[in-house]
Amino acid sequence: MFTKDIYIERRKILKEKVKSGIILICGNDLSPMNCEDNTYPFMQDSTFLYYFGLNRENLFGLIDIDNNKEYIFGNELTMDEIIWMGPQITLKEQCKTVGITELKCLKELPEFISNAQKNKKTIHYIPQYRHSIMIKMADWLNISPNDINKYVSQDLCFAVADQRNIKSDEEIKEIEKAVNVTRKMHLTAMEYIKPGMMEYEIAALLENVAKSQNCGLSFPTICSINGQTLHNHYHGNKIKEGDLLLIDAGARLENGYCGDMTTTHPVSGKFSEKQRDIYNLLIAMFDKAEELIKPGITYMDVHLAVCKVLAEGMISRGILKGNADEIVREGVHALFMPHGLGHMMGLDVHDMENIGEPIVGYNGKEKSTQFGLSSLRLGRILEPGFVFTVEPGIYFIPELISKWKSENKFTEFINYDILESYLDFGGMRYEGDYLVTEDGNRRLGDSMPKYADEIEKVRAKAFSK
Ligand code: GLY
Ligand code: MN
Repeated sequence: MFTKDIYIERRKILKEKVKSGIILICGNDLSPMNCEDNTYPFMQDSTFLYYFGLNRENLFGLIDIDNNKEYIFGNELTMDEIIWMGPQITLKEQCKTVGITELKCLKELPEFISNAQKNKKTIHYIPQYRHSIMIKMADWLNISPNDINKYVSQDLCFAVADQRNIKSDEEIKEIEKAVNVTRKMHLTAMEYIKPGMMEYEIAALLENVAKSQNCGLSFPTICSINGQTLHNHYHGNKIKEGDLLLIDAGARLENGYCGDMTTTHPVSGKFSEKQRDIYNLLIAMFDKAEELIKPGITYMDVHLAVCKVLAEGMISRGILKGNADEIVREGVHALFMPHGLGHMMGLDVHDMENIGEPIVGYNGKEKSTQFGLSSLRLGRILEPGFVFTVEPGIYFIPELISKWKSENKFTEFINYDILESYLDFGGMRYEGDYLVTEDGNRRLGDSMPKYADEIEKVRAKAFSK
């Protein structure tokens, strides 16, 4: 948590941007995993955290712009809650720490909203993703839960995205802490991976690094010898000589800030010739992004330049043929990288994903529907203070290759015969977290091995124990 002045200032800026009406920002409740009292760990809504700072369940922040008043609606703990969960400082005291003096009981919120509606005030809210909150809001707003996301406030969405997209110095400090815990998770795994282990042993080890530093996870860990499956959460395989192990994992600090990193490792300790060759291409893609990122360029152009490096690399290896620019324009390269180069990162790993990529990542412009580009979460002009990931990948997805081949898709660009010698290759990804500075960029966190030789040097430690 930051000092109360920071939350007061954030709300002041928000009021200036939205101009009139009521802003309702919903905090999260506890979600049952399988029964009411057996819940998922509590995770506060990131927009609530940003403007109201309190990491406590069942709170609603409300800003009455026209009357310049700010409220938190929530309840003090009951004796039953104190008996089961323990005492906390009072909600009234907690509210003061974020500059809120108007604390009201939750049961007063429906009437407050109903009066605002009677007075023809606009109730601004952002898209909702928790059904329990949607049901409550539907009741208060007197609409169907299915319609909640039809009436979101575009003004509020743009205002929140504009504000949260530019990370302040104190936020960058926190993100960098998360990135450094994330870095430690990856380095610890790299020094441990050996043939014969199970994927879940590695996943457990790196998650323990986060836990032992009082962090949670930014997202469910990917730790897989099947790296060609982009978001593979299965950890039940035994890893063996010759495999590649792809790890995509990140730490989330107690205050919500996230890190996100991907590394790919030769299980044997050394890349095979073929693995090293493709890995070098992957890092050339990563380096191209780093070379280009600066204020004024669009992330779309960075993505496309990286895709061109991929296309040229595939042409020089005989897998693709023809002109690299044409290949990228047609989207042929997406066979090897069906996802986008990166995404905004902050209090959410995909920052403000609930507000929507067209607003957060494209400043209101429509996203492309082309295969590959449709998964690019960020395309807008880069500004100092943006924090995002750079995560090129190269994947050989047998099912996708055989589908395209059976459809004779892009036969003028793809040498399917040569490509088929890569069917058992798997996939690789390398990911780092970047800040756009006034004149370029800075990779966040302490230095991290990247080139094949650097990876092998750290991997050697696993075999010297
Ligand atoms: N690291 C997971 C993701 O970017 O989706
Ligand atoms: Mn990522």
